[in-house]
Amino acid sequence: MSKHIFIFLQLLLLLCIIHHFPTIIAQSPAPAPAASGPPDVVTILKKAGHFNTLVRLLKRTKMDARIFSLLNNSNPLTIFAPTDEAFSKLKSKTFKSLTYQQRIQLVQFHVVNLLISPSDFEMVSNPLSTQAGDNSNYKFPLNVTADDDQVSIKTGIVNASVNGTLYSDDQLAVYQVDRVLLPLGFFVSPPPVPAPPPLKEEASSPSDSSEEDEDDAKPSGAMPVIYNGLGVMSFMCSVIIAISLCV
Ligand SMILES: *[C@@H]1O[C@H](CO)[C@@H](O)[C@H](O)[C@H]1NC(C)=O
Ligand SMILES: *[C@@H]1O[C@H](CO)[C@@H](O)[C@H](O)[C@H]1NC(C)=O
Ligand SMILES: *[C@@H]1O[C@H](CO)[C@@H](O)[C@H](O)[C@H]1NC(C)=O
Ligand SMILES: *[C@@H]1O[C@H](CO)[C@@H](O)[C@H](O)[C@H]1NC(C)=O
Repeated sequence: MSKHIFIFLQLLLLLCIIHHFPTIIAQSPAPAPAASGPPDVVTILKKAGHFNTLVRLLKRTKMDARIFSLLNNSNPLTIFAPTDEAFSKLKSKTFKSLTYQQRIQLVQFHVVNLLISPSDFEMVSNPLSTQAGDNSNYKFPLNVTADDDQVSIKTGIVNASVNGTLYSDDQLAVYQVDRVLLPLGFFVSPPPVPAPPPLKEEASSPSDSSEEDEDDAKPSGAMPVIYNGLGVMSFMCSVIIAISLCV
């Protein structure tokens, strides 16, 4: 074989190594193909087509990764997905007034820690528990009721309707809703607690009812890894390496 071809193959080999370098230094074991993992909520929403705002919020708050991780650890979930139209009904002043922490909680509030299949709506026990945490009054209560064929959601701030099923299997259900579910705790403070009757002489215990659970909001770091199109490249590299070794 001529010297030129040999050099050409060496160059190709070098290119292959450079191409794979990030993978090599990350030493990541080849991930299982996406098909065997849990369903991907972002893919479901993108396919449905009118959930662009929600998809953006899921990504910005890293809730997409959190949801993936919960599903991958076999936690059942129900997601209420407000449409772009639902977000456009939300006053921009309301949304802008939310802190980053509250935006995370807003998205978490749409993720119920329970699988509610389309036929299960009559049987739920209110208030539901969501990823936002504390579902007691003035925090993150979420009520779902079904009468006739209509499923309604009440947060104490908004009344929403379930307008369709985007996805449903034995671990995850995703429903379209017509309003953004605003949690009561963002807008209404509990009324002043009447002073408790003195137990003994000293009844002055500090009643910190406004203490927040900050820990709930931390999304897990796990991210779904998608390796698209590496297969062809790897095959080419193997062929080239094999040829180079033979030269
Ligand atoms: C998903 O779960 C499987 C097994 O439970 C685990 O091997 C895998 O690393 C998890 N994937 C991610 C991205 O966390
Ligand atoms: C939600 O349901 C609980 C239990 O039925 C009730 O106490 C609460 O007032 C309801 N909240 C709203 C906002 O409907
Ligand atoms: C929600 O519905 C209840 C009746 O079930 C009504 O009293 C309340 O005013 C409604 N709230 C909003 C924000 O529309
Ligand atoms: C959602 O359902 C409610 C109640 O049936 C209805 O009033 C509303 O128009 C529906 N919205 C959409 C976008 O279909």
